[in-house]
Amino acid sequence: MAEETTNGPRHVAVIMDGNGRWAQMRGRPRLFGHHAGARRVREIVEACPALGVKYLTVFAFSTENWKRTQTEVAGLMKLFKRYIIRETQALVNSGVRVRFIGDRIRLEDSLVQLMDDLELATSHNDLVHLTIAINYGGRDEVTRAVRRLAFDVEQGKLSYKDVDAEVLSRYLDTHVLPDPDLVIRTSGEARISNFLLWQSAYAEYEFVDTLWPDFTAAEFGGIVRSYAGRDRRFGAVKV
Ligand code: IPE
Ligand code: IPE
Ligand code: MG
Repeated sequence: MAEETTNGPRHVAVIMDGNGRWAQMRGRPRLFGHHAGARRVREIVEACPALGVKYLTVFAFSTENWKRTQTEVAGLMKLFKRYIIRETQALVNSGVRVRFIGDRIRLEDSLVQLMDDLELATSHNDLVHLTIAINYGGRDEVTRAVRRLAFDVEQGKLSYKDVDAEVLSRYLDTHVLPDPDLVIRTSGEARISNFLLWQSAYAEYEFVDTLWPDFTAAEFGGIVRSYAGRDRRFGAVKV
């Protein structure tokens, strides 16, 4: 697929919300909605090259989502494993490089192993960079980063005088990614829920009512294209 060069967003981040309500509306258990939601991801990833979106980051499970019932949490963990096993070949073949962000410490070893394997299997790909956030929270990420940074200061590898925003960024899970240009949240909620707090300082936001399992590549494309008309000033005044 040819890559378009546009003034569109290079990095789009998506808060995939509304799976539970989508299922409830159909009188089905919440996990039914999560399965439908997982199936949506492929279509959105495949739409990226033609739209000039090089980086796509999706929020799959937050550090706060552990507060849900054991059934839902266990079902989601099982779904992530199944998703990785099922999608690996297609991702490898279609040029998608996958990375995971978030704290792996609380995840099952078998899931972490699959995540590591998928990262390795796709490490030579470069068409689209898909980042999946699992057990991710913006505050948690910054906290973990600061802890590692403080450790390096304590070890004498870094002086506190050299700590600036660029240095701190290097300790974040997203250190290899550019900042998101556009953050989309589905399901009508207009909040960030702890997603990419540091990285989205100057991102554009788009909140849409569509529930994630109904979110199509066509709707995604429409939002991405409309971004090109936005005037991003980054605090400056245009002369
Ligand atoms: C988003 O859908 C997916 C996860 C948070 C794992 P929700 O499960 O939050 O769906 P709603 O918001 O309850 O409808
Ligand atoms: C944010 O959605 C997390 C994910 C989409 C993975 P939530 O449904 O967990 O957020 P809140 O609870 O509405 O803020
Ligand atoms: Mg939700």
